[in-house]
Amino acid sequence: MPRIAILTSGGDAPGMNAAIRAAALVAISHGADVVGVQRGYRGLVEADFRPLTPDDVVSILRDGGTVLGSSRCPELLERAARDRARASLIAAGIDRLLVIGGNGSLTGALALSDAEETGDHPLLVAGIPASIDNDVGLTGLCIGVDTAMNTIVDACDKIADTATSHGRTFLVEVMGRDCGYLAMTSAIASGADIVLFPEADRTDEELVEGIVRTVLSVRRRSGRAKRVIAIKSEGVRIPTDRLKQLVDERLNAESGEPGTEVETRVTVLGHVVRGGRPSAFDRLLGSRLANVAVRALLEGRTRVMAAWMPPVELPGEVGQRSKDDPYCWLVDLEAALSETDRLLNRQSQLARWRATVFDDLADLFLL
Ligand code: F6P
Repeated sequence: MPRIAILTSGGDAPGMNAAIRAAALVAISHGADVVGVQRGYRGLVEADFRPLTPDDVVSILRDGGTVLGSSRCPELLERAARDRARASLIAAGIDRLLVIGGNGSLTGALALSDAEETGDHPLLVAGIPASIDNDVGLTGLCIGVDTAMNTIVDACDKIADTATSHGRTFLVEVMGRDCGYLAMTSAIASGADIVLFPEADRTDEELVEGIVRTVLSVRRRSGRAKRVIAIKSEGVRIPTDRLKQLVDERLNAESGEPGTEVETRVTVLGHVVRGGRPSAFDRLLGSRLANVAVRALLEGRTRVMAAWMPPVELPGEVGQRSKDDPYCWLVDLEAALSETDRLLNRQSQLARWRATVFDDLADLFLL
């Protein structure tokens, strides 16, 4: 009987539990035995396992976070920690590992399955992209992005109420360590007035100038609320408080007309963006990607990632449409991670598209 271990790692993402549930149910229905690894790679190194039965997973899909727990485990970069992790799996009779996580977590899966290190005990690995930042290559979406976007839109709707009442400017910072996708999409979906994302590569002066111009033009227009919502990605390096200070200095210097008090406020949404009940779409996405990934593992495939409608053309050796779900693809994990690097270094076609598409949309839809 095949024995599959499921692990969630890195920043948790809403929808991870739906993926755990679906992976366990699909594997069990195919006669496999399923083990949950607790606390991500740290739990793998320490052999912290627990059996997963249908009763354990059946009602978890509506919960945020991950029931298996997660961790960031930089030790896995060292060969000794990987050897300990593999030894834990071998001792528990496990030869297949499903990793649900982002860039670092999927990189760990690749390193653990490296044939030069596994020797006589090959380890089959499959990945499922889960990161609210949507910063994994070769997948249109990662688990968690949709819920995070809904959380931001909901927060901005609330901020807009108070901003409109007072005619204030709000700088709203949203998560996204190296990638502005969440800021770009939630700005459009919430009807913000301006969006600051790292892919646009603007200098601090240009950022200040953009906000000041927006505020001044809002003040000039009649018949519409004199409020400004600026969404700033965490990936834009200038600290948001510093940005506010620079904006206020410029606005103070420009004011003089009546009714032009400078009333800028900062809201950093932070980890609120990563929590909460997964949206219907994230539950669906997690379930469908898990179905594809587990079936691949059971068929003996390895070093693959289940992807949702890749936004780029894929040569056959890099990925194929899943025979189990036409919206999902099975892509080469190494290729997905190389593309992730290019995406984060803004060298890929997708990175360029994102920057230009969102710049164009920002011109059309935002102020
Ligand atoms: O999971 C991605 C992410 O949420 C980034 O957007 C953010 O910068 C980072 O994780 C925060 O990590 P931590 O929870 O370890 O502080």
